[in-house]
Order: sequence, then structure tokens, then C-alpha cells
Amino acid sequence: MNKQVFDSQKRPLRDLRISVTDKCNFRCQYCMPAEIFGPDYPFLPQHKLLTFEEITRLTSIFTSMGVEKIRITGGEPLMRRNIADLIGMIREVEGVRDIAMTTNGSLLAKHAEELKRAGLDRVTVSLDSLDDERFGVINGRGYRVSQILQGIEAAAEAGLGVKINMVVQRGVNDQDILPMARYFREKGHILRFIEFMDVGNSNGWKLDQVVPSREIIQMIHSEMPLEPTNPNYYGEVASRYRYVGTDQEIGLISSVTQAFCSTCTRARLSAEGKMYNCLFASNGEDLREPLREGKSDEEIQEMIRSIWHRRDDRYSEERLKNTPGLPKRNKVEMSHIGG
Ligand code: GTP
Ligand code: 5AD
Ligand code: SF4
Ligand code: SF4
Repeated sequence: MNKQVFDSQKRPLRDLRISVTDKCNFRCQYCMPAEIFGPDYPFLPQHKLLTFEEITRLTSIFTSMGVEKIRITGGEPLMRRNIADLIGMIREVEGVRDIAMTTNGSLLAKHAEELKRAGLDRVTVSLDSLDDERFGVINGRGYRVSQILQGIEAAAEAGLGVKINMVVQRGVNDQDILPMARYFREKGHILRFIEFMDVGNSNGWKLDQVVPSREIIQMIHSEMPLEPTNPNYYGEVASRYRYVGTDQEIGLISSVTQAFCSTCTRARLSAEGKMYNCLFASNGEDLREPLREGKSDEEIQEMIRSIWHRRDDRYSEERLKNTPGLPKRNKVEMSHIGG
């Protein structure tokens, strides 16, 4: 039975973003800087991770409350063993309309086909530069661009939908905006530019590192004319533009300069089973113990309902109003809830 639930700002719960591991083979400075996430970093032990059965059960409880879209994230979700099995299990859950995965693409060439076969609809691949030297520095481990591009093409060939996410940082990869736009226009994949955000506690964010989306649009438009398109669905995160005279589009995710909290329908589940109401939340509410203690679906549904009911988070809008005056707070790490 569908029991739609709304938060204190009347926002429905529609999307569930599930982190399946806090580990990643990359060390992007803005997410898992190598100085902090070193060899001794205490990643979650296996027994603290939700099992596939637990994730599937939670998914079905969430869908009974109106969730339709599932996104699998990490860390790097392809680091979790047998992840295609989980996709197959989620695919069977009634009410799941769309299953996407956010990945760094490095292991995608190997897994694309089995993911598609298991029922994955689409992947979103993070790629911040087409220049090997810069990309090697950004990913912190010297991975090469060609490996990611092979992953992207393997995904497309397998029949998965493909989007590319580029986090833009001034002075780090702003020179890559145009080459990325040209390349993915030619390839026919949707590229989205993301404003660099102050996620987590270790990425050293400053406002002047953000390249506002409107600057990116102008830059691309002056070489390849763009026109805006209408949103695909309520609460769509990206503003979309089309290259004039084509069907090829790009997206801009302006979480800093044009916050979209007022239509935010996203709940997040960490790999250890905590539910977060916001990308910038300080605390999550544990759902793993209730599951393991043998609570019924109805009891867990009631917990989720009450967590969502209380929700008043709108961090990006608060930041937009008052960036310098924002009180310091301890935020969940991006590697725990995967963006
Ligand atoms: P589609 O389902 O393909 O439309 O995906 P999406 O637009 O939800 O985008 P995706 O999941 O790829 O998110 C892209 C990036 O947008 C993330 O990596 C974050 O950086 C940012 N983002 C997504 N959701 C939120 C959100 O709720 N709040 C904020 N502040 N940023 C978000
Ligand atoms: N700002 C914006 N996006 C970020 N991501 C990671 N850290 C940040 C940040 N500070 C993005 C990654 C990936 C997704 C997991 O989140 O590029 O697309
Ligand atoms: Fe890994 Fe993605 Fe974080 Fe980079 S941004 S360290 S690829 S989880
Ligand atoms: Fe949603 Fe929080 Fe992002 Fe606002 S900042 S859009 S409330 S996740």
C-alpha cells in the first residue's frame, strides 16, 4: 500500500540514495583526501554494513511510502563484492521505477554488462577532467582518463543510460569545461557540471573556488549556442540546456548559487544503515539495529515516517543566504552517503 509521507516543509519522500560501501579506490582531495583516508583509516568492518537482504527489505519499506527512484552510491559502489546481485534483488521490489548508480567509472568496463543484465537502468560517471595529469592529481591515485572513458563506452554499449558528472573547481579544472563539453557533445552523452560544495569536514571549501553555473553556461554558449529545456520531473536537481538545433543536452547542478532545497525529495541511507535527511546532516538515525532486533516492517515504516516527518533540513538555502555567518558544524562525510 502506498502511504506517501511528507516532511515539515511539505516535501514528499521520493528518492532513496543507498551507499553500499564507505571505501573507494580513488582519493579525490574534495572527498577522501589521502592525508586523512590513509592506510590506517578505520573503514567500516563487514559486519557493520547492511547486508543485501537488509538493503532490499529497507528498499521495499521505502517504496511502500512513495519512493520510486533508487540510486546506489558509495564510496565507490563497484568496490562492494557481488553488487550486481543487489541490483537484481532491488529490481524485484515492487514500486521501484528507476535504479541508477553513481560510480567513478574505473571498474565499469568490467561490470557494465552484468549490471545491465541484473536490471540496472543507468549509471552516472564522475569525471572531472580529460587531461591525464590533472585527472591523476584530482583522483589522488594517478588513474588515467582512458580507463574511465572505456568504462563509459562499455556502459553505453551494454545499453545502460549514461550521464557524466563533473565537479568544477576554480583554479583546479575550470580549463576543462570546454574540452569536456566538446567531447561529450560529440559522444552524445549528457554532461552535468556541478558547483563545488562544502560537503564533509575535510575538503577545505571556500566560496571563491566555486564557478557559478551561469558562468559555465556563458562560456559554452559563446562557442556552442544553448537554449534552456523544461524540467523532466518535480524536484529535478539539474537545470538542463540543449545545444541549439540538436537533441543533445547538458545539465547544471547549482547547489551553491541556486539552492534547490525547497523541492528536495531525497533520503540517504549510509552503508551502516543510518538514514540521513540531508547531504549536510550531522547525524543519521540508525535503522540497522531495529532491523537486526527483529522489528516488523510496520514498525520500521513508522520510524522512517517519524524521521521524515520531523525533517526541516535546507542547508544549501541557508548557506546561500549567509555563507560567511554559517555556524560551523560537524557534517556527515561524503564517502558515507555518496553525494
Ligand atoms: P538524475 O536522477 O539523473 O536526475 O540524478 P540527479 O540529478 O539526482 O543527480 P546525481 O544523483 O547524479 O547528483 C549529482 C550531484 O548533485 C551529486 O553528486 C551532488 O553533488 C549534487 N546533489 C544531488 N542531490 C543533492 C542534494 O540533495 N543536495 C545537494 N546539495 N546536492 C545534491
Ligand atoms: N561538491 C560537489 N560534488 C561533489 N562530489 C563529491 N564531492 C563533491 C563536492 N565537494 C560528487 C562527485 C560525484 C558524486 C559522488 O558527488 O563528483 O559525482
Ligand atoms: Fe571516490 Fe567519488 Fe569520493 Fe572521488 S568523489 S573519492 S571517486 S567516492
Ligand atoms: Fe536536500 Fe539538504 Fe541538498 Fe538542500 S542541502 S537539496 S535539503 S540534501
